Amino acid sequence: MKAIRCKDWGEPDDLVLDTLPDLVPGPGEAVVDVKAAGVNFPDVLTVQGKYQMRPDLPFTPGNEFAGTVRAVGPGVTAFAPGQAVIGFTRTGAFAEQALAPVDSLLAMPPGMDFDTAAAITLTYGTSYHAVADRGALQPGETMLVLGAAGGVGLAAIEIGKALGARVIAAASSDDKLAVCKAHGADELINYERQDLREAIRAATAGRGPDLIYDPVGGPYSEPALRSIAWRGRHLVVGFAAGEIPRLPWNLMLLKGASVVGVFWGDFTRKEPQAHAAAMQRLTDWMAEGTLRPLVSARYPLADTARALNDMAARKVVGKIVIQP
Ligand SMILES: NC(=O)c1ccc[n+]([C@@H]2O[C@H](COP(=O)([O-])OP(=O)(O)OC[C@H]3O[C@@H](n4cnc5c(N)ncnc54)[C@H](OP(=O)(O)O)[C@@H]3O)[C@@H](O)[C@H]2O)c1
Repeated sequence: MKAIRCKDWGEPDDLVLDTLPDLVPGPGEAVVDVKAAGVNFPDVLTVQGKYQMRPDLPFTPGNEFAGTVRAVGPGVTAFAPGQAVIGFTRTGAFAEQALAPVDSLLAMPPGMDFDTAAAITLTYGTSYHAVADRGALQPGETMLVLGAAGGVGLAAIEIGKALGARVIAAASSDDKLAVCKAHGADELINYERQDLREAIRAATAGRGPDLIYDPVGGPYSEPALRSIAWRGRHLVVGFAAGEIPRLPWNLMLLKGASVVGVFWGDFTRKEPQAHAAAMQRLTDWMAEGTLRPLVSARYPLADTARALNDMAARKVVGKIVIQP
């Protein structure tokens, strides 16, 4: 089977397409023929060796996939060959076959296509845990989403609307903001063109957002936090801009505000029942059309490096997938 291999820490262009032996499932495991694998920003950081989790070299990158079960290991009864599933692994999704413990697999919801199924776990899972759980967003509150046209950002907009909030989307281009509007954003801020603090003030009549969803960090976090409403919550989701902000603590004191960490991966491991309930709610919302995941581009396995480079260069809107 063909697989993308990371043989040393470096750039996406250093990845190679290799032929490996077919995978064999052990007890409690399944091998899945991958139809589509979702690409996420942490994939870029992982091949660069900059992510908090460093796999042993060499490895196959990619966390999330959808496909059909090819074989199950001894003792597995929950899934059978031929069944369509969604999978999530630490590594191994950018390949024709992926190996996963069966307790990390979900049956693919009826009516969902493989590309969508491969693209929802990490982004919608993270944004639901962030917005509904860590951020406790209430109906009628206002949420500001930074990097709003990206994978987790677009999911956050849709989840915020589903929870009854008013959503302000902030992104770097008018084209990206048009996508945010199509996915439910009420107000738009172009932070390349507009002063972020002034634009937030104008969009909230000076009150500020109750919740800030921040997957970007860098120069955007401090002006956003300075604009937060009384008792606001600022969600620390990621640092796509590269720099981890260092914020003055007096800002939290002055607004009675909280800065709230979000670590979805450990949430799924430490609270598997809450994670399963969240995924059920998300797939129910998708089935009824409340959430509409966007897969904006598809790449063959051999073009995985191009997909990761596009993501690092801020060219991606919504989600992109690899189709082995
Ligand atoms: N905490 C968690 O559990 C968790 C889970 C999943 C992901 N994350 C993190 O969330 C972040 C976003 O992930 P994603 O998969 O949604 O990525 P994505 O689709 O690439 O979105 C990130 C957005 O960040 C903005 N951005 C600003 N400066 C950037 C720069 N220098 N390079 C790249 N993007 C930049 C871009 O929007 P504009 O061009 O509009 O600014 C881009 O759309 C990543 O840092 C990731 O590690 C965290």
